[in-house]
Amino acid sequence: MTIDPSIGPDKARELFRAELADVRTDAELQALRTRWVGRKGSWVSAFMEALATATPEQKKAFGRGANELKKEVEAAIAEREAALAATRRPADAVDITLPGRPPRLGHRHPLSLIRDEVGAIFTRLGYQVLEGPEIEDDYHNFEALNMPEEHPARDMQDTFYLQTPLMPAAHAATAEAIALRTPALRPPQPLTLLRTHTSAMQIRHMEMNAPPVRLVAIGPVYRKDALDLTHTPMFHQVEGLVVGKGVTLADLKGTLAAMAEALFGPGTGVRFRPSFFPYTEPSAEVDIQCIKCKGAGCAMCKRTGWIEILGSGMVHPAVFEAVGYDPNEVTGFAFGMGVERVALLKWGVEDIRLFYENDLRFLEQFGL
Ligand code: DAH
Repeated sequence: MTIDPSIGPDKARELFRAELADVRTDAELQALRTRWVGRKGSWVSAFMEALATATPEQKKAFGRGANELKKEVEAAIAEREAALAATRRPADAVDITLPGRPPRLGHRHPLSLIRDEVGAIFTRLGYQVLEGPEIEDDYHNFEALNMPEEHPARDMQDTFYLQTPLMPAAHAATAEAIALRTPALRPPQPLTLLRTHTSAMQIRHMEMNAPPVRLVAIGPVYRKDALDLTHTPMFHQVEGLVVGKGVTLADLKGTLAAMAEALFGPGTGVRFRPSFFPYTEPSAEVDIQCIKCKGAGCAMCKRTGWIEILGSGMVHPAVFEAVGYDPNEVTGFAFGMGVERVALLKWGVEDIRLFYENDLRFLEQFGL
């Protein structure tokens, strides 16, 4: 209502309380303050003006009431102001009622999925899972695996050698141990290289552990290969090694047959073809039945029904001698398989380079 001090302080107080009760925001409270206690044109200033020209009786009648009204209005506004401030959200507050932003979950890399799956399969079979160094010496990568100095696998065209041999102390220790254990072996060359296969881990493990052995070693290996559909200079291998009394070729076949079914599905057959590796005798290349045509013959298996997946064999006695095992006491089998090759086959990927280009549209297609 319009400001009219003639209604008296008591009525004005009632009016003020009613108006205060309706205040919800800071802005409304400011408006209320201006209207009631502002310097000019407010209820209180109107009362003060009226008092200035009032008769002594009128002053007596509402002078005190007007002053009390002023105090009450100011106190009530201050109180409401504090109450509003207490409920106000600080500028940097987090609104916990907003719907959350779900974090973008990453995916395991497809090669990690294969590595873990192979690790899990062999863990169930009672194997230990190892990694081992990617920087190797000539002795563990070649010499102790029955690949003497003139062996073509050592060719500079295939192997990344480091210009300056690393770890001279470790090399001296290796040389000393070999001289004691296998005096017939030539002293090892102080050559450092990037391991060309995980087979080096066979030697590293047997050197430090007595039989029996049951291990898989999984990790990167390096070769001077140009990048193309099926080659990269760095790829991954799974090495398997089992050594003990009376381990036979039948154990190797049974193990690899079980692995093929676990990796590629029940009913996936395997076949062994005679082959050659310096560190196994006899040696075999192992094929799985084509997972696409189930052996009928298709483009993927070049109409043969079979696809090569790994190399294997019975551990050569020279390897046992190099690590100080007695070849008359123990026998063993070993195998080496490419992780990328398994991934290419399992998912029908045609270009190995896709695994290394980090294109999320590709990587996101493989389950968590
Ligand atoms: N080291 C071989 C390669 O890189 C694979 C291999 C073959 C490993 C036969 C073995 C084996 O343990 O017995 O191609």
